[in-house]
Amino acid sequence: MTSFSFDLQATDGRARTGVISTPRGDIRTPAFMPVGTAATVKAMMPESVRATGADILLGNTYHLMLRPTAERIDRLGGLHKFMNWDRPILTDSGGFQVMSLAGLRKLTEEGVTFKSHVDGSKHMLSPERSMEIQRLLGSDIVMCFDECPALPADRDRIAASMELSMRWAARSREAFGDRPGHALFGIQQGGLEEDLRAQSAEALREIGFEGYAVGGLAVGEGQEAMFGCLDYAPEQLPQDKPRYLMGVGKPDDIVGAVARGIDMMDCVLPSRSGRTGQVFTRLGVLNIKNARHQDDPRPLDEECTCPACRNYSRAYLHHVFRTQEIISSMLLTWHNLHYYQQIMDQMRHAIAEGRFEAWQTEFTQTRAQGDI
Ligand code: GUN
Ligand code: ZN
Repeated sequence: MTSFSFDLQATDGRARTGVISTPRGDIRTPAFMPVGTAATVKAMMPESVRATGADILLGNTYHLMLRPTAERIDRLGGLHKFMNWDRPILTDSGGFQVMSLAGLRKLTEEGVTFKSHVDGSKHMLSPERSMEIQRLLGSDIVMCFDECPALPADRDRIAASMELSMRWAARSREAFGDRPGHALFGIQQGGLEEDLRAQSAEALREIGFEGYAVGGLAVGEGQEAMFGCLDYAPEQLPQDKPRYLMGVGKPDDIVGAVARGIDMMDCVLPSRSGRTGQVFTRLGVLNIKNARHQDDPRPLDEECTCPACRNYSRAYLHHVFRTQEIISSMLLTWHNLHYYQQIMDQMRHAIAEGRFEAWQTEFTQTRAQGDI
């Protein structure tokens, strides 16, 4: 069995390109992971998600433990079989989602008890239970159980929360055990405080993980503050392991993160926006709901090769969006995911060829100009 490994193939400035090898297939980095929270990337067949260029999906402990439950998915042969995706899956550990979604929560050293946002039933998550759930799901990349405050928060709160997450990281490592071919990633916390981020990185390095995430960002601090943090946070983490920025972001967030040494990202934005009519293109963002598209025979993007752009006009996409036809979500999600994967592919090539900065300049200028 191929074990889990990361081969860093080229760097260009702080940007990196490489390949993560897993028994379920390779992940080309920088990688964008579409979000399949409830065992589906909404509005997409798994083979279509693959056709957009995705090597790996993200799933959620929190949602799946509530519905249909990890034990049921295990009995049915694991998450890959359940959702018909045989490539790698990374699962988030649940703590972050409890804090943003669950009702009535109680946080202790042991873990967190909470009420389900689905039916109000009571549940518990701890490092040990999160590791068990992610094992039952059959996740290839398991995330440590962590916690983080929304920003802005005061320094004492951020420090205490980070220290708790580091104790939970040690318990996650212990509970995960030895599982060849599966990886456990640590999650750095510490808000926007450089010294707390450094302490967190040191604690994680001491425990030792197959990869390291930058957590606690994109929680309301804004792009400038996030980039400020990414100017030091990735470099506090090991060079020879993948670095994953959780929950980011818009296309320009992703490009800026890669420029600062990030290898993996996930975000609901391209798929969620596909359902709300927001379309990401080379030239910028457009909203298909807008009446100015109703007579427009052009595709969303003249240069895009996705099915929405090859076969349909803006007028048609406007019509099916306005009439709430299901195909609207399917086509717009496909386009957005295709666009995101296009950016990743272009960045991987640019980094390998030592022309990332020029590529980034062109990316920025193209978006600034256009009338879309
Ligand atoms: N998703 C976005 N940010 C975070 C984070 O800090 N921790 C976890 N577990 N998931 C996230
Ligand atoms: Zn397209």
